[in-house]
Amino acid sequence: MDYMNAPGRNHLFVPGPVNIPEQVLRAMNRNNEDYRSPAIPAMTKVLLEDVKQIFKTTSGTTFLFPTTGTGAWESALTNTLSPGDRIVSFLIGQFSLLWIDQQQRLNFNVDVVESEWGQGANLEVLASKLAEDSAHTIKAICIVHNETATGVTNNLAAVRKILDDYRHPALLLVDGVSSICALDFRMDEWGIDVALTGSQKALSLPTGLGIVCASPKALEAAKTAKSVRVFFDWKDYLKFYNLGTYWPYTPSIQLLYGLRAALDLIFEEGLDNVIARHSRLATATRHAVEAWGLKNCTQKEEWYSDTVTAVVVPPYIDSAEIVRRGWKRYNLSLGLGLNKVAGKVFRIGHLGNLNELQLLGCLAGVEMILKDVGYPVKLGSGVAAASAYLQNNMPLIPSRI
Ligand SMILES: Cc1ncc(COP(=O)(O)O)c(C=O)c1O
Repeated sequence: MDYMNAPGRNHLFVPGPVNIPEQVLRAMNRNNEDYRSPAIPAMTKVLLEDVKQIFKTTSGTTFLFPTTGTGAWESALTNTLSPGDRIVSFLIGQFSLLWIDQQQRLNFNVDVVESEWGQGANLEVLASKLAEDSAHTIKAICIVHNETATGVTNNLAAVRKILDDYRHPALLLVDGVSSICALDFRMDEWGIDVALTGSQKALSLPTGLGIVCASPKALEAAKTAKSVRVFFDWKDYLKFYNLGTYWPYTPSIQLLYGLRAALDLIFEEGLDNVIARHSRLATATRHAVEAWGLKNCTQKEEWYSDTVTAVVVPPYIDSAEIVRRGWKRYNLSLGLGLNKVAGKVFRIGHLGNLNELQLLGCLAGVEMILKDVGYPVKLGSGVAAASAYLQNNMPLIPSRI
């Protein structure tokens, strides 16, 4: 039998979709409603304002698309660019690869800057491309803030600085799918023109909302961008915003209530505390990996991701077997290695509504699996390293101070 229900909760440690908190589950457990009643527009208006906080923007305009991260990508591209436009895009792992594939299929002229998987975006190449582009043929820079396949976080402030150094007007389009609401993200300060995320990641909602935020410069670009767009057209949304009805088509009512509950939880904890919690859990995970004598796929500390750790296994172990065993034997879901790193890494997702003891449970599970597959791990070594770090770095729970 391939599937049998297991007792207890599944330990969900893939880097999205992540665990949904009880408060959010309860908020979504409701009947459908007439979205043309006054209630849904009133709720949407506040959500569109409140969600700006997770982007750290006051000047941006937000859109809540019934879609996934992939749809949010398409929205960012088609609203701001025209077919044939030159884009510089960084290939550093599976998700940046998929975004580049979408850019090419939408007929943009993509200048791909490739790095070894495990490294961050090559910003020296960006600088040289901008230096050579006095005619401003480059219309946009596309970058995945956090590459979920390899656990690499790119430095967006550095990208903005390079654009500014060359006084280059290219738009800065950022995939924040596995970063926003978990990592430090400053849309206004870093001059990001379009930022986007998906509900199933750090927001800890079900999949199905693509949240897009556009700067005034991006909205201006949308007025002349010629890419064909229908479902994701910002113009339709803006029209309904002005009418006060907010929706050009049927929204997912339950996800809107879920988003309300998710934002309330994040605001109650404090966004900066949420970000600090992610940093704490990620550091603890890295201590465990070190204690196991294994390597982080991320090659330099400056790129370490605080939402996902990709762990490299020795060549005699198939990392997919670790993931298979985790699920079958321990009811633990870990992330597979994807594409170039398939079989070589497994991923521990530590993002969303998650706490220290949950993480330690996952790390204990990983140790047992490692032993099962013949890796000479000392049971308890990673848990000891992680818990020692956590115990020394625990803040008081904000709401209980
Ligand atoms: C960084 C990143 N971008 C984009 C996507 C695609 O999002 P979705 O699967 O919601 O379409 C993912 C999915 O994991 C991701 O991790």
